[in-house]
Amino acid sequence: MRIPERMQRQPLEPLLAHLEREQRRRRRRTVERYASAGSHAELIIAGRRLVDFSSNDYLGLAGHPEPAAAMAECAARTGAGSGASHLISGHGAEHDALEEALAAYTGRERALLFSTGYMANLGVMSALGGPGETVLLDRLNHASLIDGALLCGARVRRFAHADAAAAERLLGTVAQPPAVLATDGVFSMDGDVAPLAALARAARAHQAWFLVDDAHGLGVLGPTGRGALEAAGLSADEVPVLVGTLGKAFGSFGAFVAGSAELIDLLVQKARSYVYTTALPQPVAAATRAALDLSQREPWRRERVLQLTARFRAAAQAAGVPLSPSATPIQPIPLGSARAALEAQRALAESGFWVVAIRAPTVPAGQERLRVTFTAAHTEAQVDALSEALGRVCRAVGPSAPQADP
Ligand SMILES: Cc1ncc(COP(=O)(O)O)c(C=O)c1O
Repeated sequence: MRIPERMQRQPLEPLLAHLEREQRRRRRRTVERYASAGSHAELIIAGRRLVDFSSNDYLGLAGHPEPAAAMAECAARTGAGSGASHLISGHGAEHDALEEALAAYTGRERALLFSTGYMANLGVMSALGGPGETVLLDRLNHASLIDGALLCGARVRRFAHADAAAAERLLGTVAQPPAVLATDGVFSMDGDVAPLAALARAARAHQAWFLVDDAHGLGVLGPTGRGALEAAGLSADEVPVLVGTLGKAFGSFGAFVAGSAELIDLLVQKARSYVYTTALPQPVAAATRAALDLSQREPWRRERVLQLTARFRAAAQAAGVPLSPSATPIQPIPLGSARAALEAQRALAESGFWVVAIRAPTVPAGQERLRVTFTAAHTEAQVDALSEALGRVCRAVGPSAPQADP
């Protein structure tokens, strides 16, 4: 049957071919299995064994047997699925237990579980933002904060990266307070930490809601691992909205918002990505609770990942690898073009390392990079071998970015 011309859809191949030409076409790789039971540090991809330096599994808990056992035990009791949204009949005792544990862990009155960090940010923005409101975002905030702000219909203003004075100036122009001031705690592609104390002061001075998404800081930073806010010495009062994710340091899946009882009640009423979606399976919540417990029982995990990070920086600098000013387990290696970043990814895979090229639009064009991350499950020998390989690869692909101070 011939389709009338006006009903024919736009052919997709030219769009994909364009992405290919621009070296922006994304491809998935299947992890066939993990090389050893109980650890995700080494992957088998396309039959090859690779040390994974690209995950967010900072504490090495994603493959740990304890959360997996908690998940299996819970699944035997509750089944795999929750069957409905939280407000219908999908909310269970394991969700309550995890929310209580997260509230206690973060020192907030309450916490509310979301299925993902992406949805948590959409949800908070839909509850606190909206037409007539203003949302201020750091230029390098995660896509979920940007999408949440745009989708909620608020007026969106973006300030220069990590520039608290610029944020304060913008706050001064908001005609109808309270604005929402939102920042990543640790920036996901750069690894640097936001100027949280200065932003908190600016938010307070202008009676704005201050939201910190500490997806990459929780579990890792601060004297007891409670994240970038603990490291900055900020109280629940100074940061009334804390977003955390559970698929990174805690090695599980899901996310939460922590704050006052009133804030959480408002989210239950208004956060569309909470109300209109199936509840996270209870076995996932049980696994997360086990991981949270492990992260507190075994502080050596965060000490180790930070030590490995420091070891890498010293060795990489000695090997002539361009570094960025990050002290967290996220270490970007600026390469300046998609071509160079992809070539470096390929060359590292040849040498037995899985490190992924980050290209536009995830980072601005011209700031393409490798994003190297560390986990407590890596060995010193693996970190040293990566530094040495990176030195070789960076010389070969010609990094165009200047070398940063350590
Ligand atoms: C800062 C930040 N917020 C939110 C998210 C989204 O979390 P999730 O993967 O749970 O959707 C990510 C990364 O994925 C992130 O880096």
